[in-house]
Amino acid sequence: MLRVVVCVSGGGTNLQAIIDGVKEGSITGAELVGVISNNPGVKSLERAANAGIPAFVVRPKDFAVRDDFHKAFMDKLAELKPDLIVLAGFLVRIPEEMCKVYPGKIINIHPSLIPSFCGVGYYGLKVHEKALERGVKITGATVHFVNEGMDEGPIIDQIPVRVLEGDTPEVLQRRVMEEAEWKLLPKAIDDIANGRLVMENGRAVRKA
Ligand code: GAR
Repeated sequence: MLRVVVCVSGGGTNLQAIIDGVKEGSITGAELVGVISNNPGVKSLERAANAGIPAFVVRPKDFAVRDDFHKAFMDKLAELKPDLIVLAGFLVRIPEEMCKVYPGKIINIHPSLIPSFCGVGYYGLKVHEKALERGVKITGATVHFVNEGMDEGPIIDQIPVRVLEGDTPEVLQRRVMEEAEWKLLPKAIDDIANGRLVMENGRAVRKA
């Protein structure tokens, strides 16, 4: 069983899609061993509790310097012994050393078609605000392996989503989640858990 730790910051709809995938059998060979949130009191923690998954809060504010937060976060991860770390709406920049400690073992879901609308300052609803400002007609979501860069890791898969007349950032965010994110992330986990997908030489490689 692949030991999966999910890192979250807020609502946790992607976490829920993963929980449901494991429960309903669209994700096999994976076990959710922990959820780490950087925010207390968020819906994600409730979702973890309802599913009986151990959940932890490691909050930057509780530490005098960033390095101490990073250490506490890395220690919590190490305790959980993950085979795969899923950034599912984790809106905090991860410690640099994390990619060295867990090479090819971290994936992220991003709510745009990378390389559009990604990198520093592009997270959560902001991504959709920028997409609407720019007037794109197609957006979507990307699941990718995580490397040292910001949203620069090898792309695993993408699903395009049409922008519709009158969309607000909230409406577009929901459509991107429903049509793209909640499909891409569980599928990537299932593929990794079943040996169909790995990161090799800086690329996402599919195995027959
Ligand atoms: C999702 O749209 C996810 O793609 C995005 O945050 C949202 C979290 O929603 N992540 C990023 O922007 C990462 N750069 P959720 O808490 O309901 O899953």
